[in-house]
Amino acid sequence: RTLAATTVAGLLLTLAGCAGKQSALDPAGRGAEQIATLFWWMLGGAVVIWCVVIGLAIYAIRIAPGPHNDQQMRLWVVGGGAVIPTIVLTVLLIYGLSMLPGLVRSAPEGSLHVDVVGLQWWWRVRYPVGDSEWVELANEIRIPVGEPVQFNLTSADVIHSFWIPSLGGKVDMIPGRQTQLTLEPTRTGRFRGACAEYCGASHALMAFDVVVMERNEFDAWLAAQQEPANEPGDPLAQRGREVFLRRGCGACHAIRGTRADGVIGPDLTHVGSRASLGAGTLLNTPEAFRQWIAHTSAAKPEVKMPNFDMISEDDLQALAAYLESLQ
Ligand code: CUA
Repeated sequence: RTLAATTVAGLLLTLAGCAGKQSALDPAGRGAEQIATLFWWMLGGAVVIWCVVIGLAIYAIRIAPGPHNDQQMRLWVVGGGAVIPTIVLTVLLIYGLSMLPGLVRSAPEGSLHVDVVGLQWWWRVRYPVGDSEWVELANEIRIPVGEPVQFNLTSADVIHSFWIPSLGGKVDMIPGRQTQLTLEPTRTGRFRGACAEYCGASHALMAFDVVVMERNEFDAWLAAQQEPANEPGDPLAQRGREVFLRRGCGACHAIRGTRADGVIGPDLTHVGSRASLGAGTLLNTPEAFRQWIAHTSAAKPEVKMPNFDMISEDDLQALAAYLESLQ
């Protein structure tokens, strides 16, 4: 009975990988569609080989335990054990290789470019606006549906890997080098991207939110991101801004429109509008914000940002209110 329960649990866990916002088998992009198709063909090929080999084993052990003459043996071993797997694997290899040009193509001239830098353990995201200007945000990528988008990828410290399973393949981010990936989403929605290369203590806590939008919504969003931070409305948030500037948060973080212009950590100009905190680690709520600021390393081991647990509870609350108000 334990075996049956384990098998059912295993099957359910396996099926859980077939859908959701981070599944390569529930494609929402051109590349991901091809990869999912390739996966199913490879699975089919593997099942064929498995059936032949296991079938022969059962035949040899149970049905006709022998003795067999040499000619029969050669036929079964060479045919079932070598020829059939070689044919199946060769066909799959050719099929897989024929997909490569489509998967690594670059986006046509004039497509949207997004620059992403991987850092321990977050993502710096820049959208070029105008000739030599860009707007910066962190841990969230929004792109329009139905058009190819080119990602220019690099790293500021160790090797990371940029992967949005729902949209396409993954590409390494290498310090001192720029790699490229073109993704073309086929439907709108929210997805999850992750780092796919072990990069230190908090590798597992290096995710980002991906939002695929209609083109007009995307344009409106990008225009809003270019705006400086809004003025805090209520007194609590106003006090939060004072705390932010007085405590020197601006040494590492920028909030455009204030004197905080740090470039080490994530840009916080519109941090309240993001889906998560700490690169997909916590939900974006005032309570989570207080935790994050006071006990950063508890949420993300070995994170570069120090714990600000010396800040009073009142100030933390004001700080959280201010940051949440940055829509
Ligand atoms: Cu970055 Cu793993």
